[in-house]
Amino acid sequence: MLIHKFAMDEVNTKLQILNEEFQHIHQYNPIEHIKSRLKHQQGIIQKLERKGYALTPENARRYVHDMAGIRITCSFTSDIYHVLRMIKHQRDITVVNLKDYIQKPKPNGYQSLHLIVKIPVFLAASTEKTLVEIQMRTVAMDFWASLEHKLFYKFDQEIPHALRKELKSAADTMKVLDEKMESIKCEIDFVKSGHTFM
Ligand code: GTP
Ligand code: MG
Repeated sequence: MLIHKFAMDEVNTKLQILNEEFQHIHQYNPIEHIKSRLKHQQGIIQKLERKGYALTPENARRYVHDMAGIRITCSFTSDIYHVLRMIKHQRDITVVNLKDYIQKPKPNGYQSLHLIVKIPVFLAASTEKTLVEIQMRTVAMDFWASLEHKLFYKFDQEIPHALRKELKSAADTMKVLDEKMESIKCEIDFVKSGHTFM
């Protein structure tokens, strides 16, 4: 678990550096905030049980890729892809899995960009390549996902069809809002670069 904490700390530091460098060059920061967490033992057990694997440390290492998790909340959708490009450019980080639930939202409406990255942790006697899960969202996507999680966490019945539809419709509204904010940002950037409004 300690290795996962080190890996998470390394990725966090990298993200802070990238955000500050970006702020210095572009006079705004693409990252609103970053939260990180280590998965509790109970969470690891639940995941192995859910996936049908025996509860062994080897299986935890092999099948639980989100022992260390980082959630990045960005201002605009384009910022998410910007941060993604910056992460991919880091020579010591390898993206081993990418799920784009922004281009292709989950059926319930969930949107986020999920990455599993591998980063070397340099210890006294060895180097351990360690996995970290990174979830990237806009403020609006985070709002929806947090409330959906709050509403349905430990809700062990089937969600009624009407509620599922409502939830999906709320996600669609959130998408429209993100697109609107993105288009306002484009217009402002256009003016800032010396052009005038049409
Ligand atoms: P896990 O085995 O749970 O990690 O799922 P997975 O391997 O299919 O991974 P996926 O990348 O789809 O989802 C991983 C994480 O994304 C979850 O642990 C949640 O934090 C988040 N997530 C995925 N789907 C939803 C959703 O429908 N609602 C909310 N609120 N969060 C979600
Ligand atoms: Mg998970």
